[in-house]
This record gives sequence, C-alpha cells and structure tokens, in this order.
Amino acid sequence: MNCCVVGLQWGDEGKGKVVDILAEKADIVVRYGGGANAGHTVIIGDTKFALHLMPSGAVRPGMVCVIANGVVVDPDVLLQEIQGLSDKGISMEGRLLISENAHVVLDYHKLEDRLREESLGKNKIGTTARGIGPCYADKVGRSYAVRMADLRDPISLRGKLESIVAYKNKLFAAMYNAAPINVSELFDKCCRWSQSLGKYIVNTTEYLHAALDAKKNILFEGAQGALLDLDHGTFPFVTSSNASALGLGPGCGVPSQRVERILGVVKAYMTRVGSGPFPAEQDNEIGNWIRERGHEYGTTTGRPRRCGWFDAVAVAYTARLGGVNEIAMMHLDTLAGLREVKLCRAYRIDGKETTFFPGDAGQLSRAECVYETVPGWSEDLSGISRYADLPAAVKHYLATVERFVGVPITMLGVGPKRSQVIYKD
Ligand code: IMP
Repeated sequence: MNCCVVGLQWGDEGKGKVVDILAEKADIVVRYGGGANAGHTVIIGDTKFALHLMPSGAVRPGMVCVIANGVVVDPDVLLQEIQGLSDKGISMEGRLLISENAHVVLDYHKLEDRLREESLGKNKIGTTARGIGPCYADKVGRSYAVRMADLRDPISLRGKLESIVAYKNKLFAAMYNAAPINVSELFDKCCRWSQSLGKYIVNTTEYLHAALDAKKNILFEGAQGALLDLDHGTFPFVTSSNASALGLGPGCGVPSQRVERILGVVKAYMTRVGSGPFPAEQDNEIGNWIRERGHEYGTTTGRPRRCGWFDAVAVAYTARLGGVNEIAMMHLDTLAGLREVKLCRAYRIDGKETTFFPGDAGQLSRAECVYETVPGWSEDLSGISRYADLPAAVKHYLATVERFVGVPITMLGVGPKRSQVIYKD
C-alpha cells in the first residue's frame, strides 16, 4: 500500500520518526516538496541523524530515495548529508535519485532571503534563511530559474548564470545596496556539484510511474506542515510550497488516487517557529514548560519554538484538506506532569463561535480559543508499548482529540526512539 506522511500543524510534528518506522515495509521513499528549510531527526540506537533534504528513509541501507521535482535542492547541504551518512557507514551510491526538474537553490537565493527579511523589520516572515522563497519565486518566474538538469550542461549553464547574475546584481544593489555576486565563483561551484551529483540526476516521474506499475511500496514524505502550505496555510506566514498532502501530485507527478493511505502527523500540543498567528499559543509558564520538556528548539535554525495547546480546529481543517484517514500523535510523553490538559475545540472570532478555520491571517489573529479541559496524568509513558497499558486520563485525552478532529489516531509516539511507539487499532 502506498502511503503519504504529512504534517498537520506548522511542521516539526515528528514525521521523520514516523517515516523511518513505516519505511521498514517500503521499497522507495520520496520527498516531494520544500528544501533545506526542513529538519527531520531520526534516532537509531545511539546515533542521531538530522536530515534536511534527504528523505528520512535514507537511514535504512538499501532503501531507494527520491528527491522529486517539487523539492528545491541546495547541493551543498545535500552533499554534506551524503557525506554525513557515509561517515556513519550508510552509502547512497546507486539508491539516490534526484529529479532533473528540481530547482537549484543558489547563493543569491540565500542572500535575497536574508536581505529581504532584514528589510521587512517587524513584518518579517521569520524564514529559515535557506533561500527557499526566492528559489520558488524564480521557479514561478521561469526566466531566471536553474534546474538540476542544467548542471549537466555547463556551456549553456554559464550563459544562463551570466544573465541571471547581471539581473540579480542590479536588483540587489538598487534594493539593498548589496555587493555584486561573482559569476565565475558561482559557475565553478556548479561545475563541482555537477561532478559529484550528476550521476544521481534522472527523470524521477518516469521512475515513479514504472515503480507504481511494478507494484512497489512507495512512501511519500511531506516536509513542513499543512498550516505552512502556500495556498491553504496561514498566509503570508507560510513556506513557499504546498506543504499539505495536496502538494503530492505537483511535487512528484503521482496522482493522489494512487496513494491509498494518508497519514497525518501531529504532536500532542502545537508548536510554531517564525512569525504569524497562533491562537492556542501559551506565551507563559505552560508554553515554557512544554518547550523545555519537549526540547522544542528548531532542528534547522536552533530557534526556540513557540508552544501551545493542541488546536483541534486547525487540525480538523488540515486533516480534511489532505484527505487524511489516520493520525499519528507524537510527543504524548511530553505532557506528563500537568494537572490538566487543554485543547482548543472552537474559535471565537469577532464575538462569534466557529469550528471553521479562517482562510485569512487577519481573522485568525483575532481568534480566541474555546478550550475543552481534561484531567492530566503524571505517569511516565516512555516505557509503555501497548495501548491497553496507557493511563485512563491519556485514553480520555486521545478520545477527546478524535472527537473534535474527526479522524482516528492509530499511532502514538512516547519517546524519540524507533521502539517508543504504540499502535492503537
Ligand atoms: P521558509 O520556508 O524558510 O521560507 O520559512 C517560512 C516559514 O516556514 C517560517 O515561519 C519558518 O519558520 C517555517 N518553516 C519552514 N520550514 C519549516 C520546518 O521544517 N519546520 C517548521 N517550520 C518551518
């Protein structure tokens, strides 16, 4: 059965661990969106893998890993990850496929990301500064875009870079008074990338369709979370790709009806990095407590994450959006020790109560949460492996989440290790 794993909050839900577990039964793992802004942590034994671009399935030797057309590839980061895995005895030789249509993140994208954010002051988006937005903008703009396929043709790439760099230099000087970019240095870098990554660049759409016909088990790994989806998230405080399950088709060329199982991943509470509305945020002792217990600091930027109660209005919306049929709830162990646990079951916006998630950030920023309060639990859940052994208060919390979200929870995370997972049927 093909499965897509997608985050239902603002990213960092623990998808890496879920993908790692499901990858045991998969033949191929596919990343279809985002770039090095993502951060997936997988812990195997005593070894911790922090991946940004590589699908989390990479940590399983022999697994075929596809970086599809919807991803924006920073070759420096990718090469570091290939090297990092190799240093831990895991080779990507012969099992990594990068789409020739994936776009390349270049130094000027990262520069533009940083300069633009600095110029926005308090209105900044709070990006990861990885050049993601500017790279996707060039993709949509078409005239100044570089794709992985271009790395295979240095003569034409040189001409392309000259015209792009001339344009960017004029723009950056006028807008930000920035120093010019050196086109020769950039071109030399591309030639080095071409040598080391050229062997991995293929037509991944053709590969995936052949794999579907051959009845291979394919696991599609979403990056970020659906609330950061460019079209359906908390715009403008979103990322620049379709981070919900809706991004699957455009991101890798596989129609959604070929994917039977859509597994949404959530944490037992909410977190967010960067700016933007967050109705259930607890900018207080509760939020600080969750941050410290859950180690809620960004994998990519190290920034402290904003923390709050579980928001069932937001998750019911993102679950519907993605056609999610099951939920995996991670970090359940983190909440142990609270006298009571809350979850947001409705919003009050301009005096009216609603369970619909507003489409516009202005309305969302005025939303006040209507909370359901349930008893907390003090037991340490990290050693529990059967659903039946969970404390009654935990079961009650899970049932309350299911009631307001409307999707069954089938998998629970009670710690960072592969083994710390509970299945609920
Ligand atoms: P960008 O994707 O770097 O442009 O950042 C846009 C917004 O998405 C910012 O609020 C980032 O903090 C957020 N973001 C991007 N990637 C991730 C992620 O993997 N986890 C959590 N937030 C992310």
